[in-house]
Amino acid sequence: MTRTQTSRLAVVLFAAASALVISIASAQEPGKGAENAPEKGAAGTTSPLYKVVDGFKVGWRMMNGFRAWRAGACDRCHGANQQGLVGPSLLESLKTMSKEEFAQTVTEGRLDKGMPSFKTSKTVMDNIDNLYAYLKGRSSGQITRARVEPLEEE
Ligand code: HEC
Repeated sequence: MTRTQTSRLAVVLFAAASALVISIASAQEPGKGAENAPEKGAAGTTSPLYKVVDGFKVGWRMMNGFRAWRAGACDRCHGANQQGLVGPSLLESLKTMSKEEFAQTVTEGRLDKGMPSFKTSKTVMDNIDNLYAYLKGRSSGQITRARVEPLEEE
């Protein structure tokens, strides 16, 4: 075997070993009920955690995001369908807002402009990433109605 072949083999073996580690890690992924489990590294919108079926059946993260939306009564100002009322349409805002910007706005509020701070709302604070994921799903059109339901297979 040449030197290049050896190092290619090493790369392949390393990749295989990493894939194994990743699959072991995801096998331990907490399911329903593990609401405050820490974020796993590569979890993006394509992860099964953020799965959306039929436009309204969602994984537990987005489900908890919806619960936070209800707990915070965001609909009072942003509308039952996030379309905007006295507050802006979050369907539009979430198209461009980063998760950090969102978290900052919801945590601190914009008191001078009528957006309250949710710092003391535990449900909202504990689920800020889930709330972002839920609203992101709404603004991208992946979630087609505001009232979501939990995925049955979870
Ligand atoms: C009492 C009314 C009220 C409630 C309740 C409320 N908001 Fe707001 N929100 C506003 C107003 C008004 C603004 C616009 C502030 C401004 O002009 O910058 C705003 C702005 C925002 C923005 C920034 C939008 C942008 O485009 O800059 C986000 C995100 C947001 N709200 C999310 C939420 C979430 C999530 C909740 C519930 C946890 C919530 N709001 C509850 C009134 C409210």
